[in-house]
Amino acid sequence: MTLVAQSCTPFLNRIATPAYARPAKSTGQYLFSTTYQVSSGRIARTFSSKTVQPNMNKIRVAVVGIGGYGQTYVNQFLQGDVANAELVAGIDLAPERYRRLDEMKAAGTAVYTSLGEFLDNDSADLIAIASPIHLHCEHTSQALERGINVLCEKPLTGSIEEAEQMLRAEQASGKFVAIGYQWSFAPAILNLKADIAAGKFGRPLSFRCLSCWPRPVSYYQRNNWAGRIRTEDGRPVLDSPAANAHAHHLHNMLYLLGPKTAESDFPARLTAELYRANDIQNFDFGAFRILTENKVEIVFLSGHSLQYRLGPIFHAAFEEADISYAPYGNSGSWLARMKDGSVKDYGIGSSDKLAVCIEAVRSNGEVPCGIRAAAAHVTVICGALESMPQIKAIPAESKTVIKSEDSELVTVNHLEEVMTQCYEMGLLPSEIGGVEWAASGKEVDMSKRGRMFREAR
Ligand SMILES: NC(=O)c1ccc[n+]([C@@H]2O[C@H](COP(=O)([O-])OP(=O)(O)OC[C@H]3O[C@@H](n4cnc5c(N)ncnc54)[C@H](O)[C@@H]3O)[C@@H](O)[C@H]2O)c1
Repeated sequence: MTLVAQSCTPFLNRIATPAYARPAKSTGQYLFSTTYQVSSGRIARTFSSKTVQPNMNKIRVAVVGIGGYGQTYVNQFLQGDVANAELVAGIDLAPERYRRLDEMKAAGTAVYTSLGEFLDNDSADLIAIASPIHLHCEHTSQALERGINVLCEKPLTGSIEEAEQMLRAEQASGKFVAIGYQWSFAPAILNLKADIAAGKFGRPLSFRCLSCWPRPVSYYQRNNWAGRIRTEDGRPVLDSPAANAHAHHLHNMLYLLGPKTAESDFPARLTAELYRANDIQNFDFGAFRILTENKVEIVFLSGHSLQYRLGPIFHAAFEEADISYAPYGNSGSWLARMKDGSVKDYGIGSSDKLAVCIEAVRSNGEVPCGIRAAAAHVTVICGALESMPQIKAIPAESKTVIKSEDSELVTVNHLEEVMTQCYEMGLLPSEIGGVEWAASGKEVDMSKRGRMFREAR
């Protein structure tokens, strides 16, 4: 496996960050949760179309999944970072998983061990749902039935059918469902998206993204659904790097190419290569080529079974401009370079999505990223498994296991170079030549999947 080592090393050096020096406990998975610098009210007002009196009371918020990512929201409340709202309940099957539980209770927040128990005893104006992927549809539908707005975590869900069910539940309720892709709530992305939709850069031609963050074995052991296609009782999860940690980056390309604010471009055709190095059901690294409805070719490379962190790094070619994003530490900048040499810097993609949703409840406004925008990502994730239903297992001789104090990391030898070369060439691993474990998927027609979302536009 010598093919790529020399050719892309300078490029790789620029984008790779040694990541597995960290203890397994802090895997850095909450990358986007630390930098909040957006004036949320401004965003919510931008999308507000109805003339209804604003709610001047404090918005009552409940959070599901406080033992996992949901703690990000509770921490915001405990730090006094949330304006015009109060945290009425923290909900989790195992609330003791939240390290600041006593502090939360002392602040007057009630604790429930199921969403049903909370809904039977109390209510809220907004529920932030950070439960496992296979529960997003059920929990969102339960909240909507009680007339409560929802901020549900990404990915939307694990199947197109459930995504459609969620849209029907939202339409019947008259409330909103926001999907927690924080970049899609950020002025940088929303301004860039508006300029793309206005045709400022000409027609989009191609979009690429490379995004790989190492995840140790303990990442897959933290619950009973990580790395699974279906739960033990048969619910669709489709958890993978492309559906979870790097879902942001895949969704972001589809979202930026969408014709209107809360819409994404959808896949028409798709080819995927899916590989597993860990002992899991689903893939732990993969490569997708997507031809979108609007005839843009997307190449997306993501994974966890490597030693060094790569990206996220993006490049989009338009008729009149190149748009790119490269990371600097935990942030980066979106730049548009016009053919005449001028450059527009859109800034970074972070946002306070909770504040945007609170403001949308208060002002009866709309949210920039909801079910219709997030459904394109689910369609791609389902299509990837149709393209390559038999995930290719990486042979033992192509893997190295790196041990740490409390876990171990399964890596594929030279994967950093393979993925980087794929990114530079816009190809999938089986197409660059010389990758002994590579295997190709079949091209699938996705143009008739998720019709409800395409027609709702
Ligand atoms: N936006 C982001 O940057 C970001 C980052 C990480 C995770 N997430 C998303 O958050 C969601 C949860 O991921 P995670 O990594 O925190 O998972 P996790 O398994 O670590 O945590 C989930 C929590 O939900 C609780 N839970 C499970 N079943 C429940 C039920 N029926 N009712 C109430 N609580 C229940 C568990 O006890 C656990 O505390 C996923 O959708 C994931 O993609 C988003």
